[in-house]
Amino acid sequence: MALSLQEVSVGYLTTSVEKTVWLGQQLGVQLIDGDIIALIGDLGGGKTWFTKGVAIGLEIGPDCVVSPTFTLVNEHKGRHQLFHIDLYRLSDTTEIMALDLEDYLSGEGIVVIEWADRWPGELPEETIQVELRMVDEHTRELRFSGSHLRAKEILMALRERVGISLKEIKKSETC
Ligand SMILES: Nc1ncnc2c1ncn2[C@@H]1O[C@H](COP(=O)(O)OP(=O)(O)OP(=O)(O)O)[C@@H](O)[C@H]1O
Ligand SMILES: [Mg+2]
Repeated sequence: MALSLQEVSVGYLTTSVEKTVWLGQQLGVQLIDGDIIALIGDLGGGKTWFTKGVAIGLEIGPDCVVSPTFTLVNEHKGRHQLFHIDLYRLSDTTEIMALDLEDYLSGEGIVVIEWADRWPGELPEETIQVELRMVDEHTRELRFSGSHLRAKEILMALRERVGISLKEIKKSETC
């Protein structure tokens, strides 16, 4: 369907860690098994803090969510299972392949991937991409995008939930 190919994109500025966490929570509360969130962007952009917010939305304690640097994948049990993957340290594609990452996309649980641009191959079209960009010391721009029907449904609902609580940034303003 042509409609599902059109990308929906929504961007916000957050001026504190707390606001980034809150934004993650607004996404997290909506998620169900099979949803995939691909986080990309600057080093220190706030991916892990954002994931803590997603966790809160899934009724998982945010303190449980730490950068899975040594384990690569952390698993949390909440309203749904959360698989938190971080591909930062992996530059070698064969190493990534050996992790059988595809298994996490089977639809059992929610998958959040930090440094998702290092994922070998294509992520499913349902994936929601979140790009986190450092604007200044305390300000981050988070841009959400997706083109699949499910992704669009989530992003439209996100927009309604956030309302005027955060400043929305039109795409053209960032170019
Ligand atoms: N508005 C903000 N939102 C999120 N983090 C912020 C914000 N302002 C400042 N920060 C700081 O930026 C850093 C973000 O760290 P975090 O670990 O979440 O980033 P990351 O993108 O996961 O990093 P990495 O690329 O190493 O995985 C923290 O030190 C946090 O205190
Ligand atoms: Mg991180």
